[in-house]
Amino acid sequence: MFSGSLRGRLLWWLLLPLAAFVSISGMISYRNAQTTADLVQDNALLSSTRIIGEDIDWDNGNVSIQIPPAALELFESPEQDSVFYRVEASGHRLLAGSLDLPVPRGVGDVPMVYSTHLDDGRAVRAAAYVRQLYDSGRTEEVVVAVAKTEGSRDAMVWRLLRPQLFGEVLTLVLAMVFVYLGLTFELRPLMKVKDDVSDRNASQLEPIRVARLHVELRPIVEAINQCIARMGQQAATQRQFISDAAHQLRTPLALLVTQIQFARQRENRDVPLTEALAGMHKSSRKLTTLTNKLLLLAQAESAAPANVRERVDLSALIAGVLEELIAFAQSREIDLGAELEDGLYVTGDEALTAALVTNLVDNALRYTQPGGRVTVHTRHSNDMAIVRVIDNGPGIKAEARARVFERFYRASSHADGTGLGLPIVREIAYRQGGTVTLEPGEGGVGLVATVEMRLWSAAV
Ligand SMILES: Nc1ncnc2c1ncn2[C@@H]1O[C@H](COP(=O)(O)OP(=O)(O)O)[C@@H](O)[C@H]1O
Ligand SMILES: [Mg+2]
Repeated sequence: MFSGSLRGRLLWWLLLPLAAFVSISGMISYRNAQTTADLVQDNALLSSTRIIGEDIDWDNGNVSIQIPPAALELFESPEQDSVFYRVEASGHRLLAGSLDLPVPRGVGDVPMVYSTHLDDGRAVRAAAYVRQLYDSGRTEEVVVAVAKTEGSRDAMVWRLLRPQLFGEVLTLVLAMVFVYLGLTFELRPLMKVKDDVSDRNASQLEPIRVARLHVELRPIVEAINQCIARMGQQAATQRQFISDAAHQLRTPLALLVTQIQFARQRENRDVPLTEALAGMHKSSRKLTTLTNKLLLLAQAESAAPANVRERVDLSALIAGVLEELIAFAQSREIDLGAELEDGLYVTGDEALTAALVTNLVDNALRYTQPGGRVTVHTRHSNDMAIVRVIDNGPGIKAEARARVFERFYRASSHADGTGLGLPIVREIAYRQGGTVTLEPGEGGVGLVATVEMRLWSAAV
């Protein structure tokens, strides 16, 4: 019943040992109470036997007994126990009391106590001894036994035990109550954290501050704060990205508007609009490219891990991409070649992987001077596939190389381009569990873009 509650579980942890403690100490108290009550009862029985025994005397040559009232008054109690006695001279001559009360065989001069049953089955506690009487050379052995039922003894056990048990159970209950109250009190900072977090709206990303937080709770709150800080950074990056994107879209859109205005003004004046139309075409193309790249980036960013676990035939995919880009390569007079390892399969998303390769090869073709050479190379090492796009163009300077993965960053003044190509490449590689690095080519000439991707394995 307590499984979901910290308070309940802690109470349970406390209740179990405390209950065990109370049971054991209750048992010990019970034994102690029994011992004490037995001692008191046995002493009374022994005294009573002695008193009776002392009163036996000779009367005209015969042993006689008058039971003294004091011997029986010893047993007076609210429980009204029944008292029995047996005074028996040699030859089974009963002097007083009843033979119902058994006397153990070995009884002697020293009084002894024992437990026994009467003939009618009642359990009694008894004391007995043998008194030797001498008179002018005659010896008489008189057995004296006194017994009583155990009502007052049992009552005494309970009287002794009750305050002890009461104290122990009270301790138990108090402990539970205090733990419950203490926890309720001590959990208040946690509730404050809860209130602080649950009252927030999505834009409130300041760290949680709770005064006087327990040491145990601090790491949790610190972890939440770190998470909030990361979310804040992410949100800031997103805002920056949207503003950058809007800015990038605004330029070709403004151009397009101007070009349309220009064309409309000349609409009825028989002026050729070739130049204006070409301008419009260029602006729209730029808008389309930019929009497509933004879309691609969004897709790469939001790709669920489960969707980037397809089996992708890397060699076939690269061959397809190169085929599409061959016309562009020819238009730039670049020798586009490939050295592809056969049967290389990677884990990823086919469309995203194609976009990754396209962007790298497109860059190499775009930034390498006419007459240059671009080669795509694949191989594998351990469980990674390695794709290299090698060109002998101008390469990227070290200081720019660190920034080319930033969104909208461009290292060249080349007219076409969005500054989103390499960010897209990196996002896709990252989503697919891979990496991308840029290095200067052999002899410091050109650029080598290296992408590592996980080889396909059914297990992932
Ligand atoms: N193969 C390359 N050779 C030289 N410079 C490159 C190469 N690839 C990328 N760059 C530089 O990196 C910058 C960022 O590339 P990218 O993110 O694809 O944006 P874009 O190509 O739209 O400018 C480019 O502007 C270019 O200056
Ligand atoms: Mg590019």
